[in-house]
Amino acid sequence: MKLARTIMSERVCGILVLLGVFVCGLNASRPSVNQQLSNIFNELWRLDLNRMKPGIDYTISIQDRASFVSQRSHVVPDHASQPLFSSVNETKLKNTTTFSQLIKLLDNYERSTGMTERVTAEELAETNLFLDAVLETEVMKRAHKYLVSKGQSSSDLRLFKRQLNLIWFNIYHRQRNTGLDSCGFEHVFVGETKSGTEVIGFHNWIQFYLQEKQQHLDYKGYKSMQHDIPDQDDHVLSLQFSWHGAVKPTASAFIGTSPEFEMAVFTIVFLMSTERSTTVRVNIDQCQVELVVIRHGHSLGTAYPKLLSSNGRHVRQ
Ligand SMILES: *[C@@H]1O[C@H](CO)[C@@H](O)[C@H](O)[C@H]1NC(C)=O
Ligand SMILES: *[C@@H]1O[C@H](CO)[C@@H](O)[C@H](O)[C@H]1NC(C)=O
Repeated sequence: MKLARTIMSERVCGILVLLGVFVCGLNASRPSVNQQLSNIFNELWRLDLNRMKPGIDYTISIQDRASFVSQRSHVVPDHASQPLFSSVNETKLKNTTTFSQLIKLLDNYERSTGMTERVTAEELAETNLFLDAVLETEVMKRAHKYLVSKGQSSSDLRLFKRQLNLIWFNIYHRQRNTGLDSCGFEHVFVGETKSGTEVIGFHNWIQFYLQEKQQHLDYKGYKSMQHDIPDQDDHVLSLQFSWHGAVKPTASAFIGTSPEFEMAVFTIVFLMSTERSTTVRVNIDQCQVELVVIRHGHSLGTAYPKLLSSNGRHVRQ
């Protein structure tokens, strides 16, 4: 999603998407664009001043297309000899409160599902500070106002914070017959492994960058169909990687966005639907994405974006 593109390119994008629908045949399983959610998400996009700018605050190197590998596969060809992130301005990361508070939370979780999460007082305090920082941003303030107007949240800030806490940080069972081993935040922002061979969740770019820097993660290449080649400015990417030896055949994530933007968007989708699994199609900036949100009772099971088209480039999946 590039900034500062003309309305013309949006039109071109729209026409290409329409053509794509005709060419591929009408795909009944694809929902139509949700205009109301597109409007609020574009407002949040414009308010997201903490978003890092591609080519300025960070640079990525997408390299080659990844091979098809199945879930639980051990042998994964590497189509990217270099890391995905060539550089990230860490001064800026550490100087932005929500990013620096997020980074403190990333080491609070047991990587493996089935391993009981023990939450210390220090970790609770870190979660609290992170939520406070998120609630102070214009992005989350606007999301809160929207949810109040839709009757989904209380206007009382303390109650809204409690609601965010329940959605994102309530610890629950992901794997049966074990202790409380997971929560929405851990799954989406930190990532988990299952049976030591599968990576599940893991949809945050900061965690990706930090794990890659510590050499726990190996980027294997981008995922896309045929002639689509993502570019360094895309704010949503589909990619393949291994993490502590476990493989994620296809992962999809926002790149460069702030944690408050990601939380706000997924919280709105979560609260505006009562279904166990929700997929909405929205236009955000120059991009068309599907947002997938799966609930786990009153909490979040998982949430991630899927790129459909970017800057007039129609992406077939
Ligand atoms: C990193 O970001 C800081 C704060 O925004 C800025 O002052 C600095 O010039 C940036 N560094 C680089 C290498 O761009
Ligand atoms: C962030 O940068 C500002 C201005 O450069 C500086 O005054 C402030 O101390 C920095 N904050 C942190 C948390 O590093």
